[in-house]
Amino acid sequence: MTEKKRVFSGIQPTGNIHIGNYIGAGRNYVRLQEEYETIYCVVDLHAMTVPYDPKDLREGKAIMARMLLAMGIDPERSLLYHQSDVPQHAELSWILGTLAGMGQLERMTQYKEKSDKAGQQFGLFAYPVLMAADILIHRAHAVPVGDDQTQHLELTRDLAERFNHRFGDLFPVPEAIIPEVGARVTSLTDPTSKMSKSDPSPKSRVHLTDTPDEIASKIRSAVTDAGSEVVYDREAKPGISNLLEIFSAFDGRSIEELAAEYRDAGYGIFKNAVAEAVIDGLRPVQEAYASLTDEEVHRVMETSAEKAREMAAGTMRLVREAVGLT
Ligand code: TYM
Repeated sequence: MTEKKRVFSGIQPTGNIHIGNYIGAGRNYVRLQEEYETIYCVVDLHAMTVPYDPKDLREGKAIMARMLLAMGIDPERSLLYHQSDVPQHAELSWILGTLAGMGQLERMTQYKEKSDKAGQQFGLFAYPVLMAADILIHRAHAVPVGDDQTQHLELTRDLAERFNHRFGDLFPVPEAIIPEVGARVTSLTDPTSKMSKSDPSPKSRVHLTDTPDEIASKIRSAVTDAGSEVVYDREAKPGISNLLEIFSAFDGRSIEELAAEYRDAGYGIFKNAVAEAVIDGLRPVQEAYASLTDEEVHRVMETSAEKAREMAAGTMRLVREAVGLT
């Protein structure tokens, strides 16, 4: 039997998880468990790179861990742990930092955007190097992410190649796994910008914990486009196209099929159908979320962290040897 390839991904415990995170990444975490050895991480150290309140971080970590389990991450098949419980992430990050070019880090779009808002600070600048360490410490082959992480993945690939070239082949050069539909879910209030946890308007996104009424109201008030036909055209009809992507992700039918069915139905009927698909799609996740206990979640996080520490220590032994520390 050939060994399974390994998948790693991380999600920040900031704010409340939304359907963009779910469609763009979370659902894939669950699917990939069938085929890969899967490792998932609540990246609490990354969440400290913008101003935050310690109380919110503590709560956010617990909520995110519980939500990931509710989505279907299966502790029998996957590891799921908090990043800061495995100190080797930060240790490898230091070493990779010695290989990362200032120019390349300065070009990172997320750094530029976030430093405009949060102010320049070394943690934010070094963020993508820590992300590379997250992936490489587990010598992962593939990384499920949304579209906004492709630049960080490119940096990870560069750092893996640079390390291998300089110190000998140690890291697989990881591939991004980006979904065909829903890689960039956009805001319900401004369909030309990304749906984001940090958008001040909660109407811009559907949270996984929203009630059916909240979901229906947010989708009904989503900004749509001129005209009345339901057609998929990201340029001319960004609002309707975004809703079609969300619809398709939750309903399972293709965008073409849904656009054909609702073409002349009118925006009102179309939006109601989208809302219904989202409500139905989230129901099992919400039920699972409600039935998990804090103890269960805590136990999974602790047990996984212990295994992850062992695996990460194995990689660090090889790295230390390769770079001349031991
Ligand atoms: P984060 O926490 O912002 O988002 C988690 C995942 O959700 C995806 N995503 C989206 N997908 C589609 N549409 C959207 N509107 C949308 N918003 C977010 C993100 O692409 C991501 O996959 N830097 C990462 C966290 C991270 C990481 C890692 C990821 C740290 N280390 C190692 C992979 C591997 C981040 O901020 O994700």
